Amino acid sequence: MTIDSKTMPVAAIRNGTVIDHIDAGHALKIVKILKLAGHQKQVTLGLNLPSNTLGLKDIIKVEDRELSPDEANQVAILAPNATINIIYGYEVQRKFKVTMPATIEKIFSCPNPACISNHESTKGSFKVLQRVKNKIGLECHYCRKVFNHEEIR
Ligand code: CTP
Repeated sequence: MTIDSKTMPVAAIRNGTVIDHIDAGHALKIVKILKLAGHQKQVTLGLNLPSNTLGLKDIIKVEDRELSPDEANQVAILAPNATINIIYGYEVQRKFKVTMPATIEKIFSCPNPACISNHESTKGSFKVLQRVKNKIGLECHYCRKVFNHEEIR
């Protein structure tokens, strides 16, 4: 890899994790679920960057934190095309695609206001269903209603 600081839209990082190929519009939600705003080191974002494969993409660069595959997979429902790059000494040491988990636990609330999980002020638990028309179905463990990934918060 050659780093060209003139053409790289968000500066290269020395050590840490780059979450690349995020569908445009989803980076801020990912910052929230991975609690990156509370990370005491540098976090840089690129929003709506041109991408050959996605048209537009978002990118997140986190200094001095190595995302585990489990953490990375939490972002899969928001960014199913994401690539995780682990960087050491400015070089990409490892690269992997996120994989869709079978369930999503305690990250999102159920959008159904009548769902018991909201009354118990607990985060929801969802079964991940097959994609329908490019949207990922999520079935609430408590009320059994199905939502698409854009509906959950
Ligand atoms: N990157 C970075 N800091 C580094 C090295 C890489 O921020 N020190 C970023 C690059 O900007 C890129 C991602 O990490 O967004 C992956 O780097 P690389 O594998 O070199 O880029 P590509 O070959 O374009 O990756 P892909 O094939 O996954 O698109």
